[in-house]
Amino acid sequence: MIELRQAALEILAVTDAQVKVSQAFQLFDQYQRQLIELDVAAVLNDLDLGLPGRPLKPKLVLPKMVPKRRMDTPEGRAGLLHSLAHIEFNAMNLALDAIWRFSDMPKEYYEDWLKVAKEEAYHFSLVNAHMQSSGFSYGDFPAHNSLWEMVERTTDSVIARMALVPRTMEARGLDAVPAIRDRFKQIKETRAVEILEIILHDEIGHVLIGNRWFNFLCDADNLSPIAAYRELAEKYSAPILKGPFNLEARKQAGFTVEELNLLGA
Ligand SMILES: [Fe+2]
Ligand SMILES: [Fe+2]
Repeated sequence: MIELRQAALEILAVTDAQVKVSQAFQLFDQYQRQLIELDVAAVLNDLDLGLPGRPLKPKLVLPKMVPKRRMDTPEGRAGLLHSLAHIEFNAMNLALDAIWRFSDMPKEYYEDWLKVAKEEAYHFSLVNAHMQSSGFSYGDFPAHNSLWEMVERTTDSVIARMALVPRTMEARGLDAVPAIRDRFKQIKETRAVEILEIILHDEIGHVLIGNRWFNFLCDADNLSPIAAYRELAEKYSAPILKGPFNLEARKQAGFTVEELNLLGA
């Protein structure tokens, strides 16, 4: 029988984006149909897999080298969609990474991240299909890798991963998506608006999952979530959070009133 965490590792190593997407969907389906077992205790090794598997393109560049996207040209709009596609591709990778890398978490932790992997695969497909309808595809523009870099920085600690990837990086997405959606609304590109609504809705769930497991780990070690977050953000050089914040979405995503108040401070 296939084992979930081993399979997640193998899918993470897949380089072709379409193949990775369909394998992520398949993994989710097979797990639901109880065709896959889960070994929470296995300590897996990525050996020389060169994670994450990714296509030769897009070319990865520093964030400041990614040009600002203009909405008044087809290239500019496709470039904006391309940066979203790249984020979704890496988000799928990070969910798979959370499954294989960290052992001895409760079963529900792995099930939560499997759901995230499936939803990120779906987001990638939506954005990529829409970009293709205007003649562009994933790999046509350079992209930056700051999301994956935070994943790599936190390979040694599941609490740091939960604090800094879903609760920090994905939570920034909650702040950023409404403005991007509104840019497409202004030019009446309704399909893009619909896709961004789906993404925003699902991403609240992903941040909620990050909060659930961060708080679980804080409880287990008797840590205060606020103090623990502050320490981890400093230790792992997390980006400083800048507003404006989507406080409503962040509240739905499980941040406490105290945490929300600190954002404004
Ligand atoms: Fe996503
Ligand atoms: Fe996400």
